[in-house]
Amino acid sequence: MPKTMKKNNEPQLSKKDVGLRSRALKDVSRALGTKDLLGDDFSNLEAVKMSLIDFFKRYGFTEMETPILEKAEMFKNNFRRDASKELYEITSDKGEKLALRSELTQGIIRAFFEHDLINSMPQPTRLFSVGPVFRQEKLQSSRYRQFTQINAEILGENKAVAEALLIYTMFSLCKEWGLDIEVQINSLGKSECQKEYKTRLNAYYKERGNRAKLCNECKKLLAKDPLALLDCTEKECMGLAEGAPQIVDFLDEESRDHFSKLVEYLDELEVKYNFNPRLVRGLNYYNDAVFEFWPIADNGQVQYKYALGGGGRYDKLIEKIGGQDVPAVGMALGMERILYKLKDKGLILFPQPENLIFLAQLSEQAKLKSMQIFEDLRREGFNIRNSFAANSLKKQLEEAKQLQARVCLILGKKELSDDTILLRDMDSGVQEIVPQKKLIKDLQKKLN
Ligand code: HAM
Repeated sequence: MPKTMKKNNEPQLSKKDVGLRSRALKDVSRALGTKDLLGDDFSNLEAVKMSLIDFFKRYGFTEMETPILEKAEMFKNNFRRDASKELYEITSDKGEKLALRSELTQGIIRAFFEHDLINSMPQPTRLFSVGPVFRQEKLQSSRYRQFTQINAEILGENKAVAEALLIYTMFSLCKEWGLDIEVQINSLGKSECQKEYKTRLNAYYKERGNRAKLCNECKKLLAKDPLALLDCTEKECMGLAEGAPQIVDFLDEESRDHFSKLVEYLDELEVKYNFNPRLVRGLNYYNDAVFEFWPIADNGQVQYKYALGGGGRYDKLIEKIGGQDVPAVGMALGMERILYKLKDKGLILFPQPENLIFLAQLSEQAKLKSMQIFEDLRREGFNIRNSFAANSLKKQLEEAKQLQARVCLILGKKELSDDTILLRDMDSGVQEIVPQKKLIKDLQKKLN
């Protein structure tokens, strides 16, 4: 308990109390690398989610949800870098190795086979899912340890039109949201092309003077997966990657045709893209087309460290999980990164509901009556809000204004006694008295 009192009788916190409070706050603060979404951020999250869900549904995607906990085994070998540094692993009471999912894609594929969707859903199967994913990332800006992805996967389609559809979805939505992006595209070819390319790449990095310039992590990775070195964002490694051989020179005819077809589609659809021979993705299961969505800053600089999403074709991963040869392509978008970008630009997407009615009340009895009126109007399909707890008219009118209500209905003692209600046009400020019996008709006339 604080011991000292201020002159105005307000308790004054002693240094000891302040210490206790700050320690207590520290204990309940969120974990590093996680984020609370409040206010405009939350509204933007909802708006972005709704636009994407709407878009995917229109294109025949079915929404699904898979567990956050999956068997760790599934995720283990798919990172280009050290998986033990990325996965959050848990051992269950029965000794089973589990992991917090590090992406949605693999759970979706597992479920696709486990529930035999290949035989029960139309082919190609289009699925999408939204939810939290977890990665033990080094803490840096826009890299969270828990973040939200929205994923779209097309299973059973081998044509480049599938990649084009996914890229076009994100490109057009970013345009609609006011975000400037450049789509990065590359082809990684088939595993046979990659095999030859890796040998060539390995030799390049081992050339005199090159290996010494690599960062320590890339030095270690060279033997395991030389493609991962192209993705490194350390300055010296990026410089070396510039001069490295390019995978396009190792593609077979089929992969070349597939990629040319994708480029043709993107040209037709007027998508702004950049052929990026160093784009390999942080996951190692891709073949042929890969892509990422990089934001463009106000000064025109492309922000390669803050991809808003990415994906590609992954025919072999499907075979590994499900044992069947099903061509597949997909993408994941990082919701927090999109939100960060919207915030950066001062954009709030949450659409203000149209024709909003705000119901204000000025007494205890009016509160009860206004609840009935609220329900009547809600059932009639009106878009209605109120703040039943508030008493001051000024505060309620301020709230109505903030919500951009078109009409404010005011119920005071007088209106209560003569069964009327005051209808205020929020644009003009003009008020009229309306009998409660006629309210629905009058509102329909006014708002239509
Ligand atoms: P990814 O590139 O690892 O792909 O992640 C997709 C997006 O998630 C990134 O572009 C980024 O926006 C966001 N993201 C990734 N890591 C973080 C992080 N630590 N903090 C915040 N946002 C992050 C995949 O996950 C693949 N499953 C995509 C895919 C779907 N491929 C085929 N189908």
